[in-house]
Amino acid sequence: MKKIGIVTTGGDAPGMNAAIRAVTRIAASENIQVIGFRRGWEGLMTNTFIELNPRVVSGIIQLGGTILHTHRTLEFEKPEGVKKAAQTLKANKVDGLVVIGGDGSFRGSCDLTEETDALIVGIPATIDNDVYGTEETIGFDTAVNTAIGEIDKIRDTAISHERVFIVEVMGRERGFLALTVGITVGAEIILVPEKKLAVREVFRAIDESIARGKKSGIIVAAEGVGDNQALAREIEKNTSLEARLSILGYAQRGGSPTARSRLLANLFADEAIRLLRKGQGSRVVGLQNAKLTSLSLTESCKSTKPLDFSLLKLAKTLAT
Ligand code: F6P
Repeated sequence: MKKIGIVTTGGDAPGMNAAIRAVTRIAASENIQVIGFRRGWEGLMTNTFIELNPRVVSGIIQLGGTILHTHRTLEFEKPEGVKKAAQTLKANKVDGLVVIGGDGSFRGSCDLTEETDALIVGIPATIDNDVYGTEETIGFDTAVNTAIGEIDKIRDTAISHERVFIVEVMGRERGFLALTVGITVGAEIILVPEKKLAVREVFRAIDESIARGKKSGIIVAAEGVGDNQALAREIEKNTSLEARLSILGYAQRGGSPTARSRLLANLFADEAIRLLRKGQGSRVVGLQNAKLTSLSLTESCKSTKPLDFSLLKLAKTLAT
């Protein structure tokens, strides 16, 4: 292993820079050269990269985002785009590629493995925490804590005005962020894309809360559950409480990574370099039963990480 490429793809996540820094410094300690491709897969398709060394990655462990930038490109979903990326790896004599991203990044990596001899290892980094094969992704803990901080503030005004607040968190397809945030803010209701509730069930849950003496409430909803503005209007029409919607938005994608997100970044990077040095490619590193591990890229790409629905029941009990 003489030269490694790094690419950050898909939605950015706090801790990506910590992972870039760790891969660069661990590789340098093994006399492995590192280059960083710019703007996700586009950088591989256009041969756009920067040299990375221990000095270039100084002072970034605490920075959200990615110094390499990322970019969602449809071009890479076409065979010719993947071939261009493979040609770039060959032209630069890249032996190993570390892909830092989410489930979409790893699906793209699966396509690339078919076209290149370079060994590819994925490092799961997304606030959605929806990568099969790891209990936790880099950035998830940071996004959870960002959301908690905002929702604790919203709870103050909900109580003061005796209102229900629907707080929309990120998660277009998956509800891991909504579920963990909902439990940790004590939400009365948690709405996830994997288990859509009928609106009358939402009204019933609110009425039950009121019957138990509650005069306000928080509903944490993943953005993928539907039109949360319309739901707020329906709640006002069908219950005795006023309702408002607050969309947390892109603040969840930024901010300085928590210690947890930084730790995962460093441990995942170390495991990724270890795999590459052993000649093991087409892997995704992860955490299983709190232990560092890896699984095949193919398995991660074709599998869907299950949501623990029992936690929804626990959240309901905790919110009585
Ligand atoms: O994948 C992370 C994520 O933040 C999702 O939770 C969200 O739905 C999506 O990215 C937003 O994508 P974009 O940044 O392209 O608007």
